[in-house]
Amino acid sequence: MEKISRRKFLGMSIKATGATIVAGTFAPSATSFFGLAGVAEAKTTDVQPFSFAILSDSHLYDINGHKFDGILERAVDDVNKMSPKPDFVIYGGDLGQLGKQEELEKGKRLLSKLTVPYKIIPGEHDWYLDMGKVWGELFGESHWSFDHKGVHFIGMNSILVEDYWSARGLTPEERMGWISELECHRCGLWGVREAQLDWLEQDVKKLSPDTPVIIITHSPLWDYYPRWNFQTEDAPEIRAILSKFDKVMAIHGHVHQVVYNQIGNITSAGLLSTSWPWPYPPVELPYPAIKMNRVDPADILDGLGNHSVSVDRAFAGMLNYHTWSDLLPENVKRGVRL
Ligand SMILES: [Fe+2]
Ligand SMILES: [Fe+2]
Repeated sequence: MEKISRRKFLGMSIKATGATIVAGTFAPSATSFFGLAGVAEAKTTDVQPFSFAILSDSHLYDINGHKFDGILERAVDDVNKMSPKPDFVIYGGDLGQLGKQEELEKGKRLLSKLTVPYKIIPGEHDWYLDMGKVWGELFGESHWSFDHKGVHFIGMNSILVEDYWSARGLTPEERMGWISELECHRCGLWGVREAQLDWLEQDVKKLSPDTPVIIITHSPLWDYYPRWNFQTEDAPEIRAILSKFDKVMAIHGHVHQVVYNQIGNITSAGLLSTSWPWPYPPVELPYPAIKMNRVDPADILDGLGNHSVSVDRAFAGMLNYHTWSDLLPENVKRGVRL
């Protein structure tokens, strides 16, 4: 009861002040890239340095030999060759394109070639044909947490929307088709919703504020560009629950591009896809220096890639974007500090 009241209060506060956080709110400065003076260093000394890899947004089709299959295979191969070897891989959602069983099974088959274990969360493209049934059978719970070498990892399903299909009598294929539009204005805003907020609250309850936390969601935990669902409606509630920690790293898929933001104790970075790059939306970015170059449409690999994150003893993280082209400006090539 107390939790619900607090969330309602938070929601009311946001509505009352109109304090939706939009891109551009956090003005960039010359020191806002590397260095990020405002980012708190975690006090913990319990972290054993390690690295992990990330893949995202493969959008596999149920077509034999489709080019996206080969790109994911190449990304998996790159991860297997990484040195030092990552401890595990995180997959950031949108493994399939239309949520078909054949797509998701193909994705699982390709990911099984990884030589390290992986954890996965869903994207909207994986989910809305059968409301996550096959995805759940193949991959298990769509939210989870685990501890690794002193860091608490959290994965959440951030693509849940209110029912837009029943009253309209949509077929499962139509429901999937609607939400797979970039501008799915008929589907409503995405979120993790009450049950996962309750779970998150319980999950972090016993953790001390100096616990290093890394959270992975498909959509950003800030209002980047809601028109393209580059947002999570209840991200303010997630940030409120995580606000007790000295420092949180947030990593998200869905945007298919390099993007960075910092809100309070949370640093946040977007992932490249292995399918296609999205253009930047027509908004001012909070950290415009952390941006990829314009993609060459004649090069099918341009704008795509995989990632590694190294975490040091002081819980400073470095996200490296690995690409197969000259996509990255020099500053991003050196890695983005989380
Ligand atoms: Fe995607
Ligand atoms: Fe997505």
